[in-house]
Amino acid sequence: MKQKKVLKILVVSAEVAPFAKSGGLADVAGSLPQALAAKGNDVRIVMPRYKEIKQSMSYITDFPIQMDWRKETCIVRGTVVSFKFEGDIKEVPIYFIDNYHYYDRDGMYCHLDDAERFAFFCKAVLDMLPYINFQPDIIHCNDWHTGPITFLLKYKYKNSVFYKKISTVFTIHNLQYQGIYSKDILRYFEVDESYFVPDKLEFYGRFNFLKTGILYADVINTVSERYAEEILTEEFGERLEGVLKTRLKDLYGIVNGISTEQFNPKTDVMLYKNYDKHSLDNKKDNKFHLQKEIGLPIKDIPMIGIVHRLVDQKGLDLIDEIVEDLMKYDIQLVVLGIGDPYYEEMFKSIQIRYPDKAATFIEFNESLAHKIYAASDIFLMPSRFEPCGLGQLISLTYGTIPIVRAVGGLVDTIEDFNLDTKTGNGFVFKSYTPEALLETIKRCLLIYNEKKDIWNILVQSALDTDFSWDKQANKYIDLFYLAMKKNKE
Ligand code: GLC
Repeated sequence: MKQKKVLKILVVSAEVAPFAKSGGLADVAGSLPQALAAKGNDVRIVMPRYKEIKQSMSYITDFPIQMDWRKETCIVRGTVVSFKFEGDIKEVPIYFIDNYHYYDRDGMYCHLDDAERFAFFCKAVLDMLPYINFQPDIIHCNDWHTGPITFLLKYKYKNSVFYKKISTVFTIHNLQYQGIYSKDILRYFEVDESYFVPDKLEFYGRFNFLKTGILYADVINTVSERYAEEILTEEFGERLEGVLKTRLKDLYGIVNGISTEQFNPKTDVMLYKNYDKHSLDNKKDNKFHLQKEIGLPIKDIPMIGIVHRLVDQKGLDLIDEIVEDLMKYDIQLVVLGIGDPYYEEMFKSIQIRYPDKAATFIEFNESLAHKIYAASDIFLMPSRFEPCGLGQLISLTYGTIPIVRAVGGLVDTIEDFNLDTKTGNGFVFKSYTPEALLETIKRCLLIYNEKKDIWNILVQSALDTDFSWDKQANKYIDLFYLAMKKNKE
């Protein structure tokens, strides 16, 4: 696609890999900007400067922000992220919004004043623009923390020459996290009461950050086409289905990509051995090395990997229900993630009960994650709901075959393997029941154990798949133009 002009794009996110990450949002906010910049756009990123961010950065500017009766200082710092593109080194600048009171503490989220911390962030992002002399065509807001930016632009800045041409796209990575707080938060946005009504900022008597993004962005999207449809229903709408329906004609779905520089079995330095579709024995060696490192018996049996946040969304209760049956098979289960203490305990207890078959790592460990993606034969993701899901894309890239539930982005990216036609790239089940999951795992194991040729073809074609951002980034660019058009109307 030939782009019309160089777009100036500011990507706003509460987390950006490799600086701070709790989930897939960080991966997308870290990698999509690079794909947009590779196409010649002027792309910059902005995020809060949490205490845990250790990368060096420089001071850029500071200015005051009125927070109710107090003034808080916003310090803007910055650095650049370099990446390789077609042999050249390219750069994306990233700005950090710093304030000692709000961000110089442990943990990104779950503080009592999160509403105020992200209200400050939203105001700081907009106020910083004249100071850094950047007037974007598009502000790309991501998830609830950034929702009010769209509202502030339309409400507070609408008469300002500097701001009025700026258009917004709001991307929903997960509708479950909405940022719902008491109405008191209105005072930080200096909004008058007339806006606290159901078709504006009010949500069941409270203030909802995500709802502001949905209502006031020029265009909205979610991270898969299927999820964009699902969230209009009561089952997946998280009480926002009605609000979303009012924006139906401005709601789109774009499946995420992944960074092929970061995830590439041919070059990944975190692996024990690199491999491609012509060297599947090297993939197997990754399994043997991992088994040795984590103390599992060294055997060529199916290894099932799980790498994601250990939360209800991921369908972990189904695994709990089938684990006794699953462990009757000659398999190994390797789990890596942090999340809900209930599920952390559940996986620790599986390891205690089956020390020769299961290994559980309750931690955040990028290098171990890559090793598990490469070493496993099967990747398990039986999600209850899944806006896009990155694990299934990464696992396929490493020739590891996903077993997923037919929901959200998993539907858009994984096709059930059909033994007759030999089509499909994974194993898919529909109903959210332990029986359906177990049946599907059995179906997969049967092919692994008894039809090795077919299994190898599945693995080889997985290694051929391309989930890079290139095509998807073009879809975002189209969306940005659409937002600019809407903003003029
Ligand atoms: C959230 C969603 C996940 C999605 C990711 C990036 O973590 O749960 O499905 O892939 O955001 O968009």
